[in-house]
Amino acid sequence: MIVGKIIGTSSTKEFDFLVQKKINKFEYIQVYNENGKYCLCQVVDLLRDSEKTVAKSQVLGYREDNRIKTPRQPFRPGTEVLYASDDFISQTIEIGKSGLLLGSIEGRNISVFLDTNKLLTKHLAIIAKSGSGKSYACGVIVEEIIKRGIPLIIVDPHGEYSSLRLPNDRKEEIDKLKPLGLKPKGFIEQVIEFGDTQLSSSCLPLKLRDSLTAEDLFTLFPVKLSSAQQVLLYNAIKDKSSDLDSVILSIESEETGAKIGLLSQLKYIKSLEIFDSDGLSYSELVKKARCSLINLRGYPLELQEFFIAKILSDLFLLRKKEDIPPLFVVVEEAHNFCPERSFGESRSSRIIRTLASEGRKFGLGLGIITQRPAKIDKNVLSQCSTQLILKTTNPNDLKAISNSVEGITSEKEKEIRNLAIGSAIVTGFLEMPVFVNIRPRQTRHGGHAVDFEKEDFKGSFESYEEKLSVILPRVNKKDLEIMTGKKYVSTLIPAVYINMENEGSRHKVLFELVNGNVIQDIDKKKYSVFSGQPFSEIESFYSVEQMPEKLIKSDKELKQRVSVKSIMERIKQKYKVASYEECSLLVYVPGSDENVES
Ligand SMILES: Nc1ncnc2c1ncn2[C@@H]1O[C@H](COP(=O)(O)OP(=O)(O)OP(=O)(O)O)[C@@H](O)[C@H]1O
Ligand SMILES: [Mg+2]
Repeated sequence: MIVGKIIGTSSTKEFDFLVQKKINKFEYIQVYNENGKYCLCQVVDLLRDSEKTVAKSQVLGYREDNRIKTPRQPFRPGTEVLYASDDFISQTIEIGKSGLLLGSIEGRNISVFLDTNKLLTKHLAIIAKSGSGKSYACGVIVEEIIKRGIPLIIVDPHGEYSSLRLPNDRKEEIDKLKPLGLKPKGFIEQVIEFGDTQLSSSCLPLKLRDSLTAEDLFTLFPVKLSSAQQVLLYNAIKDKSSDLDSVILSIESEETGAKIGLLSQLKYIKSLEIFDSDGLSYSELVKKARCSLINLRGYPLELQEFFIAKILSDLFLLRKKEDIPPLFVVVEEAHNFCPERSFGESRSSRIIRTLASEGRKFGLGLGIITQRPAKIDKNVLSQCSTQLILKTTNPNDLKAISNSVEGITSEKEKEIRNLAIGSAIVTGFLEMPVFVNIRPRQTRHGGHAVDFEKEDFKGSFESYEEKLSVILPRVNKKDLEIMTGKKYVSTLIPAVYINMENEGSRHKVLFELVNGNVIQDIDKKKYSVFSGQPFSEIESFYSVEQMPEKLIKSDKELKQRVSVKSIMERIKQKYKVASYEECSLLVYVPGSDENVES
């Protein structure tokens, strides 16, 4: 189908054509080349005035001798531009017919498969701002890896991946799976999860074998050791590994003052109760058809870093000796665990850098997921040959992406800002970046934000009492400081959670009791000022990051000024209160400890 004719000045890289048939931005087109072959091109922008529409287009190339080549001569004015056929696109960009099914080319019925070997040996990065679909897309890739029986470890700081055990239950997503020949599916037998058993009953205890080297302990100490302490520790462990109790006993028997500080740190480590003679068995963790989740939810960041450093270092060593099979390791929120050097060091930085640069030689593939490409170690990012880039808007992050990813032009940067949820630019695995519609998940996605409006607390409100006593924001303080460049102090503010009804409709609403404002959905980082309208009509939302600033502006003291009773009075004009629960809300207030009263 002819869609237009070339006009104006063309180069070997770009040209304009006069649009004769409707065409969309980023549509693939084909143009006859002087060497007698069609060349694949893409519309990158459309300009319209009262008389005509002109499509600005980019030359992608044609396939010859199994390579993509670009024409040596520009197209002539008047040359016809055709809508590219699905076959021509697949042949030119060689999307393949097998591999990991990621989705389809945006706007086309062409499936996109990632080459399994390339992906697993040359590392993967999934990049996007928060809420843009990183974990969802990662879940799709993880499903494909599990189906192939490839051993997989997922470092999961928020405990989002346990839902891989369950089949997708969202009707609109299930409907879209059918044409792909896929069904909802849960990997109950393949997925095992280690974490804090008190927070998640589906977890096995996350305990490490009590066999420690001096390096392990150095990584774990909260304070740097003096050289005298280091000598003591090395002498106690010698060059083998040892259990914590023997190390403590051995140091206790030394006659030196240097042991006091060292012993108190060792006892602190013992109090963490993360070591056990019956700890993680790596051969159980890494085996065929096994996806092991390291659920770090609830552990302080320092401990999360230690778990990652210890587990990944041990696995790398075992892999080098071929004591465990080749495997793929996914690290969620990787910017926290391997930050760019100017953002400080993490205990896990070194091993993640090593895996990025050396893992492939030993059959250990790495997948990193980050919402802050500017904050993650540049070398780690650039070692990831396949990149899945979803919506990103922060200019520093866009710069980091274009610096480390080949083929991201300023045009593409603009597009990255405007990507819809579920769409990605995928680079590296093909000779040119492609826009991909990520396929629906077969398993259930675990990263959905909690929707306080939809959550049904009816009948089970009591069981939420404990969970609601302190409500935590989703962003952690360290991240917030890096995102905004400001310092924050954590403060608890009083709040009340009310379950109310109005003519059959139910609302579950959280009010802060400093100014009596309503926080509509803290997990979506939105809140709105209650001003008497029905909740569905409230339109003024503020991000949770702005919330403390709003509170401070109106009142420097974050103490309770509004009584629960007065909130009830306001509500009762329109709603019937079914139940309520007083709780606290953890907020990050800009400033340092001196200028905030908590
Ligand atoms: N391909 C997709 N198809 C359908 N829905 C999607 C898709 N990708 C994302 N979503 C929806 O968007 C929401 C956010 O996605 P996801 O949890 O993957 O974001 P994220 O980038 O990992 O966010 P965060 O940085 O907060 O972890 C999901 O709850 C899901 O409902
Ligand atoms: Mg996520």
